[in-house]
Amino acid sequence: MPRLYHRGVLFLQSILLFSSTYCQNLMANTDNCCILDERFGEYCPTTCGVSDFLNTYYTDVDTDLQYFEGLLNQIKNETTTTTVIVTDMQLLGTKPQTSPQGIKDPTQKSRTMLDEITRYERTVTDNERIIQELQDMLNTNTQKIVQLKQKISVLESQCQQPCKDTVQIQEYTGKDCQEIANKGARTSGLYYIKPLKAKQQFLVYCEIEPSGSAWTVFQRREDGSVNFNRTWQDYKNGFGSVDATGKGELWLGNEYIHLLTRKETILRIELEDWSGNQVYAEYSFHLGSESEGYSLNVNGYEGSAGDSLVEGSKDDSQYTSHANMKFSTYDRDSDKWEENCAEMYGGGWWYNNCQAANLNGIYYKNNVPYEIENGIVWVLFKPADYSLKTVKMKIRPVDTA
Ligand SMILES: *[C@@H]1O[C@H](CO)[C@@H](O)[C@H](O)[C@H]1NC(C)=O
Ligand SMILES: *[C@@H]1O[C@H](CO)[C@@H](O)[C@H](O)[C@H]1NC(C)=O
Repeated sequence: MPRLYHRGVLFLQSILLFSSTYCQNLMANTDNCCILDERFGEYCPTTCGVSDFLNTYYTDVDTDLQYFEGLLNQIKNETTTTTVIVTDMQLLGTKPQTSPQGIKDPTQKSRTMLDEITRYERTVTDNERIIQELQDMLNTNTQKIVQLKQKISVLESQCQQPCKDTVQIQEYTGKDCQEIANKGARTSGLYYIKPLKAKQQFLVYCEIEPSGSAWTVFQRREDGSVNFNRTWQDYKNGFGSVDATGKGELWLGNEYIHLLTRKETILRIELEDWSGNQVYAEYSFHLGSESEGYSLNVNGYEGSAGDSLVEGSKDDSQYTSHANMKFSTYDRDSDKWEENCAEMYGGGWWYNNCQAANLNGIYYKNNVPYEIENGIVWVLFKPADYSLKTVKMKIRPVDTA
């Protein structure tokens, strides 16, 4: 209501002007009489006129005054309220500076909580990943189980049929193959033998001739499928194997060869080159014990291969003969060379300084040319750089009875 307020002020001013200034100077004189406000009537403003005027308009003015009073109060109240708000705002603005300690704890707490939450989130992610991995594993295992179950059912159905052993082991046993033949066995194959002083029986391939002579095969090379560059321990206990038809590669083991040659024994060596030429060498043979270094005792050569074991390479037999030499492997050097023959030529053998024969050398397929003469060598049959195709070493007692 600003308009009313304005009108009220004008009224007041008018009243004051009349009463203080103009009324004193004006006499009841028509010339001087002026009509300043038509609400005064047609007479000059005298005290009575003002009084009449006030009486006439008193109620209006009073109402206006009350209204003003109300407005002022409102303004005052609003001012007070504003002051209170401003004070509050000032207080709020300064609060954080006045009490930093109080804030620090909650801040720290919320930060720790955030860290915790992050950690939990990470753990949850990790766990989800692990669960996925486990799930994958479970799936794989389930598949495997299914496959295994299928295999089992196949095997079960196979076992319903009468079982046939793929490796046939003959029933006869004895001290050696000759004794087995003497018992009547005429089939070459795998037999268990137990020489005197042997701790337990072991499997060997017996080559039984129609005449009843029986050889125990202790070495065989034919395709390079078995590594012969091995340790003392391997050569002592043997490695590789042959099947029931005698195929395969093996070294029976120095300990067994020793036990089998305690009685007078014949060693027969059979060699074949890559052109199909076959030769042999036979010796009277005995292998020393381990404490004797599994030394090679051979004499009485007979055959077509040439006496490379005793004569060596003939020209320098003192360096190349293998007779009476101790057995050497790359990890037990008993040769006559300042270096290690077994390491140089590969395979355990009765090295001198170093060799004229080495049937445990590296197997070279198709006799591919090689330089350091470390193949399967028999110098009096083929040159030192010629590696043979097949080799067999076997024994039988001299006394076949
Ligand atoms: C002003 O404040 C007084 C006291 O707080 C109260 O009684 C009065 O009603 C208020 N007036 C208005 C117009 O708000
Ligand atoms: C035989 O094996 C030994 C040991 O691994 C090695 O030092 C040597 O060179 C090998 N010899 C041959 C001819 O491969």
